[in-house]
Amino acid sequence: MKLAVYPGSFDPVTHAHLDVLKRGLKIFDRIIVAVGEHYAKSYLFPQEERVAMIREAVKGMPVEVKHFKGLLIDFAAKEKANAILRGLRAVSDFDSEFQMAITNRKFNPEIETVFIMTRGMYSYLSSSVVKEVASLGGKLEGMVPQNVENKLRERFV
Ligand code: PNS
Repeated sequence: MKLAVYPGSFDPVTHAHLDVLKRGLKIFDRIIVAVGEHYAKSYLFPQEERVAMIREAVKGMPVEVKHFKGLLIDFAAKEKANAILRGLRAVSDFDSEFQMAITNRKFNPEIETVFIMTRGMYSYLSSSVVKEVASLGGKLEGMVPQNVENKLRERFV
């Protein structure tokens, strides 16, 4: 049984994240979505709400959703994961992802980082874009699942 941890802020989860997750399930038997906090970021949704939104969006998939604190690599080791899964959208993502993967490997060389390229149709899509569109009352069709759209609408009434 191959297990991956798919970490992120997911503020909120988008179809781009879900696409990476579904494609990750072609490689891994099970995936744990690990909802974390970056020390320098501020979030629209608290961690529990981000977790709840993802749980609803992944119903029926062999996916668990957990929050974590501390180093990602320690969480992945505790869960006995074989790999960390990350999505790559564009070349601009590469530098920071490379840095993070190398740092994580330095801490624990047993756990590989695996990247899945986001599908072209989602390469523009990020949680930030979604929040900006939602805050300005724009259409969110094709960007986020319905439950996430509802939450965003509540936030930006
Ligand atoms: O998708 P994001 O918003 O870039 O996710 C960031 C997150 C929370 C996954 C990342 O910041 C993280 O893993 N934080 C935990 C601390 C850590 O282990 N950092 C990696 C070493 S550089």
